Amino acid sequence: MEKFYLTTAIDYVNGAPHIGHAYEKILTDIIARHYTQRCDDVFFLTGTDEHGIKIQKTAAEKGITPKELCDENAQKFKDAWKALDVDYTKFIRTTDEEHEKIVQQIFNKLLEQGDIYKHSYEGLYCTGCECFLNPKDLTEDGLCPDHRKKPEVVSEENYFFKLTKYKDAIIKYIKEHPDFIVPEFRANEVINQLEDIQDISVSRAKSNVQWGIDVLGDEEQSIYVWIDALSNYITALGYDTENPSETFKKYWPADVQVIGKDILKFHSIYWPAFLMALNLPLPKHILAHGWITIDESKMSKSLGNVISPTSVLESFNLEHPDAFRYYMATSAPCGRDGNYSDEDFKEKVNAHLANSMGNLLNRTLSMLVKYFDGEVKPEFKGENPLAKKALGTVQIVKNHFDNFEIAEAGLEITSLVDAANKYVQDTAPWTLAKEEKMTECGQVLVNVLDVMCIIASLIYPYCPNIARDMARQLSFDLSTKLDDLTADNIKYGKLISKEDIKPVFLRLDSELADKSAKKS
Ligand code: MSP
Repeated sequence: MEKFYLTTAIDYVNGAPHIGHAYEKILTDIIARHYTQRCDDVFFLTGTDEHGIKIQKTAAEKGITPKELCDENAQKFKDAWKALDVDYTKFIRTTDEEHEKIVQQIFNKLLEQGDIYKHSYEGLYCTGCECFLNPKDLTEDGLCPDHRKKPEVVSEENYFFKLTKYKDAIIKYIKEHPDFIVPEFRANEVINQLEDIQDISVSRAKSNVQWGIDVLGDEEQSIYVWIDALSNYITALGYDTENPSETFKKYWPADVQVIGKDILKFHSIYWPAFLMALNLPLPKHILAHGWITIDESKMSKSLGNVISPTSVLESFNLEHPDAFRYYMATSAPCGRDGNYSDEDFKEKVNAHLANSMGNLLNRTLSMLVKYFDGEVKPEFKGENPLAKKALGTVQIVKNHFDNFEIAEAGLEITSLVDAANKYVQDTAPWTLAKEEKMTECGQVLVNVLDVMCIIASLIYPYCPNIARDMARQLSFDLSTKLDDLTADNIKYGKLISKEDIKPVFLRLDSELADKSAKKS
């Protein structure tokens, strides 16, 4: 694998980030970190979607300019991703000058080659979706099914994109590439939507939408926000219709584009059509994740249950975001909806990260110190009954990641931790020590520690801080590529002293956790 290019949806900046946005960025960051363990060159793009009527209206309500609103909120997204250790390569804003220029160029190219034409139109526009809706998709009361609002009747002369021209090619592509849309069960939905697809309006009258990129040579129209937004995936790499950059040539097509299920139509129909019109290859995979609910209800401003990711970190006094990352990433199987609840969060991370994984390392290192003064002797190395399962888990985790099954991969790691715990329970090294079977006791401890190195490596994408703490105590090189992992990781000699043993994750309700977080 030479390179891996992955992207998230770019978020609207009419509000602050919530845990639904965070879920997507965490998933993508985990995929990115996993692939850095398999290839040297990962490019991870995220950013903000800043034009359109939604932003224009919110800014007007607040009595500020759209640009002021964008600047203020884009920063909140950046701050949130920093707090969550979402380690992107580039953050694009659709108000970036370079992006705007290329979007105009793309629009004009499509216009010149006849894929875009001008046409008078009357349609129903939903501001929430930033798109025209088909009357047959409305609820019985004539509302947008997603936003529960009445769409506006818009009558304008707009530019249209010949989506119908690409319909058959897209259907063929989806059928021939069953792994293009992940999970596969969503592909049928898309094929059904494609059946009655129409050409789409790709501009809005300036009289109605001022906050958008101008159509070059037509002052009365601004470019439709979805052409603007989708293009970010290539403008961020330096795409240019005349002279694409080396970066673009290197990274495009994307290996995976991560988005929510609500915007799959835009990514699996409109986006492929635009790319086909530009004569560019399609992304290898579109991963449509499910939605996060709060205490099993849809998150919404009107219900007052919108949770910001940083408020979770603050309310639990978390020193780093690992527990939240782990919880979110394992909240739902690939493509399914997940749920957040404070109680469940606490219970799950206490069980998995503190009791199972953290305690196992802590207990094993403590025994090594107690019985052997932290020293690993050559005779402690032998046949490791956990090795097969551990190396098998590496392979299974890789396979899950190839199918973007992040939660499923997480469960495999947990199951390896459970197996190691069971091994300690069954072999009872404390009894071996009491019986003065010191070599056997040392072997058990080193077998576990060898596997803990593999666990640190596998858990790293989810919990980078915990993994680093584990690796430090094991003197293990966390930058080891997954394919270079072996079951022989612990070196001979003094591994650790008592004072260097540190719990990698404290139970959320423990007094210690409270104190240590307050200290920082
Ligand atoms: N700006 C468009 C995307 C353009 S991509 C070229 C948009 N923005 S959004 O802010 O509404 O949503 C951004 C992403 O967050 C989308 O992928 C969306 O599915 C996701 N989520 C928004 N709310 C969510 C949940 N409650 N749960 C999980 N993801 C959710 O759409």
